[in-house]
Amino acid sequence: MSTVAPPLPADLVTGLKRLKLATMRSLAPELLVVAKTQRWKPEEFLRTLVEAEIAARDASNTRNRLRAAGFPVQKSLEEFDLASSSVPRSTFDYLASLEWIRAKENPCLLGPAGTDKSHLLVALGHAAVEAGHRVRYFSAAELVETLYRGLADNTVGKVIDQTLRADFVIVDELGFAPLDDAGTQLLFRFVAAAYERVSLGVASHWPFDQWGRFLPEPTTAVSLLDRLLHHSVVVLTNGESFRMREAKQKGGPQKS
Ligand SMILES: Nc1ncnc2c1ncn2[C@@H]1O[C@H](COP(=O)(O)OP(=O)(O)OP(=O)(O)O)[C@@H](O)[C@H]1O
Ligand SMILES: [Mg+2]
Repeated sequence: MSTVAPPLPADLVTGLKRLKLATMRSLAPELLVVAKTQRWKPEEFLRTLVEAEIAARDASNTRNRLRAAGFPVQKSLEEFDLASSSVPRSTFDYLASLEWIRAKENPCLLGPAGTDKSHLLVALGHAAVEAGHRVRYFSAAELVETLYRGLADNTVGKVIDQTLRADFVIVDELGFAPLDDAGTQLLFRFVAAAYERVSLGVASHWPFDQWGRFLPEPTTAVSLLDRLLHHSVVVLTNGESFRMREAKQKGGPQKS
């Protein structure tokens, strides 16, 4: 028969509440019983409580950073099938080390549809969150829309600063839709502000020499690429789309 642990004295409950030590507060009554019956050393009791509080805080901070990152899907490096990917192992290992975040380098993934660009960026974002970094995911359209809103109420600088409070900012699907001159200028301001300050992760279908297709102002496009590529890890992905491979394996739609 298990005995119910007596509650903590009211003054201790109040003190732990005031110090926001919720895990210690909920764990302490039972742990006191264990510590007494098993004759723990006082420091062992204290250590167990402190470690439990730290673990709970770390987990809660990770959950908050994960929510703030705004990933559209859940992807992990463990799920990444390197053997079926065109990403070289050495590149994958370097990216998985997250060293590039400290070096403020920009992973740039270029390649056709379904060749693991978003998967890898989002999985790296997850790994970065787990490692304690702040991450923010945007599709390029979403980012440009956010910057345009800043333009409308004269707060572009502030919006950019807020966005760049992360250590790793992902701009996915760059070039899916062409930008107008104002959009190109806004994107340039964003990339220039991020330069040597945060890691920018970008994914695009277009090789760099084709970026003029969606950035109509050539001088700005060159200046943007110059900053983006100065400290970068360029990954060219290729092969058949994972989506197509999966659809074929499932015996998906043959012919209408
Ligand atoms: N190496 C991989 N291992 C496991 N799953 C993968 C891998 N690459 C891609 N996939 C899966 O295939 C699907 C398409 O991949 P992903 O979204 O990364 O493509 P993409 O290159 O971003 O394509 P698009 O340019 O159309 O956005 C996703 O469900 C993804 O999880
Ligand atoms: Mg994608």
